[in-house]
Amino acid sequence: MEEELLRLKSEATETLVACSNADELESFRVKYLGRKGLFTSVMRNLGNAPKEDRPRLGQLANTIKKDLEAAFTEKSEAVTQGQAGKAKSGDDDLTLPGRATPVGGLHPVTKVMEEICGVFERLGFTVAEGPDIESDFYNFEGLNIPKHHPARDMHDTFYISDNVLLRTHTSPMQVRTMEKSEPPLRMIAPGKVYRCDSDITHTPMFHQVEGFLVDKKVSFADLKGVLAVFIAKMFDENTAIRFRPSFFPFTEPSAEVDIACVICKGEGCRVCKQTGWLEILGAGMIDPEVFKKVGYDPEEYSGFAFGLGVERIAMLKYGITDIRLFYENDLRFLKQF
Ligand code: DAH
Repeated sequence: MEEELLRLKSEATETLVACSNADELESFRVKYLGRKGLFTSVMRNLGNAPKEDRPRLGQLANTIKKDLEAAFTEKSEAVTQGQAGKAKSGDDDLTLPGRATPVGGLHPVTKVMEEICGVFERLGFTVAEGPDIESDFYNFEGLNIPKHHPARDMHDTFYISDNVLLRTHTSPMQVRTMEKSEPPLRMIAPGKVYRCDSDITHTPMFHQVEGFLVDKKVSFADLKGVLAVFIAKMFDENTAIRFRPSFFPFTEPSAEVDIACVICKGEGCRVCKQTGWLEILGAGMIDPEVFKKVGYDPEEYSGFAFGLGVERIAMLKYGITDIRLFYENDLRFLKQF
């Protein structure tokens, strides 16, 4: 019986060494270590051995079985790990599609700004850009807003020094352009502007597009015509428009332009504060005082100007109610455009 046990031990050990996958291991376990396995049946025959040999043989059988079980566990772990490692290196499925690099997109404000500029470019306007850090002269003085004039209150300005500031609007580009060139002029100036203001409809930095046209005999009707085309292209073609008298120091007469509320179509709702109208831009005929500052003769030339807020137009176009969403860099928001 002792011989039988030792033979079984060496046979089992050899078989275990040769096992290379989970199936072979399972067959090994059933054949040698299972309830109906070879070891169990040898041990069942223990009763047939001479009485004095039984304790020794029992002990031997137990030791061999324990050793084999330990070797089996060790081998099982090695095989499982080996298979995981193999899946990583050799077994890659090369037919699977690759992991795509996400494609970026333009920011909604950039998109709307490009769309606005596109409409005016097709109307023959050229695009010019100016500095964000501006002098008091271009931002205020040249636009007929003298120091200590109450109109300066309209803009909560970030000053860098007494005479240098972050531009509060894109209108300084009117002065910069006219100073350098002669009429006829047709220009738009998109860019960033800054005001010390922050709530659900204001951010300290936002975008404007300034537009102006200077020539002989330019009238308010020309302004209306250009803005009507712009609004028809940006919004629905049948969007109603109204001009409301207003005041800007650099235009005379001045107007604010409203469109029929894009949400309720003029019926009155929360967005338009029950008025049925939404303000979208400021405009007017360039003030003779501005022409004098740049050396144009107001008797010879006339012109119109307008300024619009890009975020505001984007909010109306897409029904966004909080301007701060544009600047929180939440991809779930930005990816929708
Ligand atoms: N610059 C004005 C602002 O930021 C907007 C504006 C109004 C621009 C009337 C114009 C204009 O050119 O004619 O509030």
